[in-house]
Amino acid sequence: MIDHPISAPGIEPSLSRLRCIGCGAVHATVEQDFRCPDCLDLLEIFYPDWQNRTMQTTAPDSAALKPLWQQRKTSRLAIDESGVWRFRELLPALHDWNAATTLCEGNTPVYELPSCARIAGVKQLYAKHQGMNPTGSFKDTGMTVAASFARQNGYRWVACASTGNTSASMAAYAARGGMRSLVLIPEGKVSWGKLSQSLDYGAVTCQLRTDFDGCMRVLNEVVKRMPVCLLNSVNPYRIEGQKTGAIELLEQLDWQVPDHVIVPGGNLGNASALGKAFLELLELGLISRLPKLSVIQAEGANPLVRCIREHGGKKLIPVQAETMATALRIGNPASWRKAVRVLEATGGAVEQVSEVEIVQAKAEIGADGIGSEPASAVTLAGLKKLVKQRFIKIQETVVLILTGHLLKDPEFTLKFHRGDLFRGTEHEREAAVLASHQRAPIILDPNVDVIVKTLEQAEKNGPAK
Ligand code: F0G
Repeated sequence: MIDHPISAPGIEPSLSRLRCIGCGAVHATVEQDFRCPDCLDLLEIFYPDWQNRTMQTTAPDSAALKPLWQQRKTSRLAIDESGVWRFRELLPALHDWNAATTLCEGNTPVYELPSCARIAGVKQLYAKHQGMNPTGSFKDTGMTVAASFARQNGYRWVACASTGNTSASMAAYAARGGMRSLVLIPEGKVSWGKLSQSLDYGAVTCQLRTDFDGCMRVLNEVVKRMPVCLLNSVNPYRIEGQKTGAIELLEQLDWQVPDHVIVPGGNLGNASALGKAFLELLELGLISRLPKLSVIQAEGANPLVRCIREHGGKKLIPVQAETMATALRIGNPASWRKAVRVLEATGGAVEQVSEVEIVQAKAEIGADGIGSEPASAVTLAGLKKLVKQRFIKIQETVVLILTGHLLKDPEFTLKFHRGDLFRGTEHEREAAVLASHQRAPIILDPNVDVIVKTLEQAEKNGPAK
């Protein structure tokens, strides 16, 4: 084990290994597609010493970790200012911690959502807003770890397929780490905000005439031919970084475990990562029980829901994905087995929500003063359903993971307020329930009387529902 000054006295970095989630084989080296060479399943990182903590090992001293992590909040070291690397005892060790590629990610707020709580029918509702990360989505928490390891392993190129947020994040971290980046995105299905980010950070950005799943298929072949590091969430270092969203959440809740955590499901890396974190925290004795982790998908992009309901979690049949929540337009999620494991281990639910339900939930979150992109809003829409089904009880504490910032897709929000989102679509009639949330911009002459009248009229109309 390398000796470095950034560890706290008596707390060693954890020894990590790669293991196949299918056949259990432990691998010393890793292929470029991050799959098991024996059975082609995904790999996960595990920490062999954590299982037997009574022996002289590198397992972290659990009692010392909480104060250590707290104390690092006052440090000016870049890796302590990072809300990911601050928890480095639960991450794979870099040869040199100072070589971490970081943008001060993590450190995202937890908000109470009082009006959403009333609407959903629960007493305690929080949102962990991962959209407040440096590039506006939760992807940054995983990307800092995966990009740091790519750099440590000498890669000059990194690459991903994306619905827009992974690519924005990867491009930023590649630029920061002095690497070049290749982005494959489905043409016409990525919001301008996300596309413009990867351009600004200097990625080679290819819009392919296919969907996300098609981009992923092409990229899997590219990485076999070229020395590029794959930074999709099949890369297990991404998952390790994304675990810290759960660790930071618990720290913010004073280690009081919420009853439920609800997360959107796309490629299913995030559900896998947050679940892994809860299970490891339990294993290390940092928490004494698990929250139920539930995954919500859009009805039009629901392969996990069908996998659980129709095949008992044993088989996933890809679907042709279609939803306005473009971040979730994924029909063949790579990490479905990891997600099923997490659902089973924590006792969480899967649910699907309609396009109109997503849009309504986004407006309701907005009415609590919190902006989010449509994909994040599936969490509130799902919560409402799970409360109706009595899976979630009124007195239970619930945390929604908001995954992306409102400004990722302002065009969507504008279309909604102008009433254009569902015009001429099969959802037009159902969308009538949204009228009370719509606030189209008003074009007026620069006249004080007209403004006063508008104000009075708005007062008469009452507050947004
Ligand atoms: N929310 C947002 C805002 C996302 O961008 C994504 C995924 C998800 C939720 C779903 O997370 O894939 O871990 O289940 N976006 C990917 C991308 C796939 O390419 O940006 P997941």
